[in-house]
Amino acid sequence: MNKLKNILTACAIAVAGSVGAAGPAELLAHADDMTWLLPGVPYPTENAPTPERVELGKKLFFDPRLSADNSVSCATCHNPVLGWADGRATAKSIQGKDLQRASPTIVNAAFNSIQMWDGRKKSLEDQAMGPMESMVEMAMNLNRLFAWLKSDADYAAAFAAAYPGEAIDDKTVSKAIASFERTVISNNSPFDRWLRGDANAMSASQIRGFRLFTDENKGNCAVCHQAPNFTDNGFHNLGLPSYGAPEPDVGRYAIKPIAVLKGAFKTPTLREVARTAPYFHDGSAKSLMEVVEHYNKGGVVRKDISPEMRELGLSQQEMQDIVAFMQALTSPQINLALPELPY
Ligand code: HEC
Ligand code: HEC
Repeated sequence: MNKLKNILTACAIAVAGSVGAAGPAELLAHADDMTWLLPGVPYPTENAPTPERVELGKKLFFDPRLSADNSVSCATCHNPVLGWADGRATAKSIQGKDLQRASPTIVNAAFNSIQMWDGRKKSLEDQAMGPMESMVEMAMNLNRLFAWLKSDADYAAAFAAAYPGEAIDDKTVSKAIASFERTVISNNSPFDRWLRGDANAMSASQIRGFRLFTDENKGNCAVCHQAPNFTDNGFHNLGLPSYGAPEPDVGRYAIKPIAVLKGAFKTPTLREVARTAPYFHDGSAKSLMEVVEHYNKGGVVRKDISPEMRELGLSQQEMQDIVAFMQALTSPQINLALPELPY
């Protein structure tokens, strides 16, 4: 891992150096921007990715038979066509009721050191069984699930190829799904190409937007949306209007009752963010401009708000530049071949 990271950093610096003479310096990435280049995808030693594991995980991810009434798969709420989210303000449950929180994208979740809006899961392996068991998500009886997977000749063969000698159980099901999720990566956006030395990959407005994004005296966004995956893996209260409700969602505080975590939610990645409207854990912002306007006001409900939230005084043009920059975080849509589900 570390070796790969060093090689990548070395290449990146070499690239940045070599284009240094090609155009006006303010349009080019600087050597210290290279912290934004994503390293290789990390994975736990006990679950190294193999093609068999990824393929099996992909089948499971898209298979609605992992839910009680065969109606919901992971992809229902993490849909590749909708930036691996669901386009809803808050997720819809298996009985069609609204959940409290929005479905986050799973893009680059492989880089998170903590999962879920409130960080209640540590890793992708740790997270994967949750939705199947959750009565409001997939409501699946796990004993029934494992018995069915074992009885299905194609799934049984796929598990044997992916995890030879291991049982078909919660461990192998979650390891396979996590292996697939580690392939859902965004690292070829105009921003990434600009970092790698293509001075024309981003427009002038997008480049200005990036500088405003990182400037502590302007957007101050990168204090929380840190390099390289636009998150500090930390929790903050942004003073959203919904926090003013009589019994608001307290977020991380319900998991760790420390005063600074009241109403705090995990900083999400912003990669592919232009595909995943509406925004915030409560889906309350319809567009990226609405999000930036919220920050420019310094938040709405000031109780328990993060000390990093303050009125920014950005001009309309500056706000547009920041939005344009976030639009440069979209990689070309991959034509994902849907898995052939065993029947
Ligand atoms: C009914 C919609 C729904 C289904 C089905 C669903 N999810 Fe989610 N997913 C959500 C919501 C909502 C959250 C955030 C919940 C929270 O933080 O409290 C979430 C969070 C996650 C996260 C954490 C991402 C992050 O950045 O923190 C991962 C990973 C994930 N889901 C994977 C899966 C997998 C794998 C499946 C299938 C086994 C699945 N989901 C099924 C709605 C869904
Ligand atoms: C104090 C830390 C902090 C700062 C500063 C910050 N963010 Fe955020 N950002 C977060 C957190 C935490 C969330 C999720 C909050 C929630 O939903 O309750 C978030 C959510 C977002 C979202 C919605 C993403 C989604 O998937 O729903 C966007 C877009 C965003 N921020 C962009 C920005 C921009 C642009 C700036 C600078 C103008 C900025 N952020 C400054 C922490 C921060």
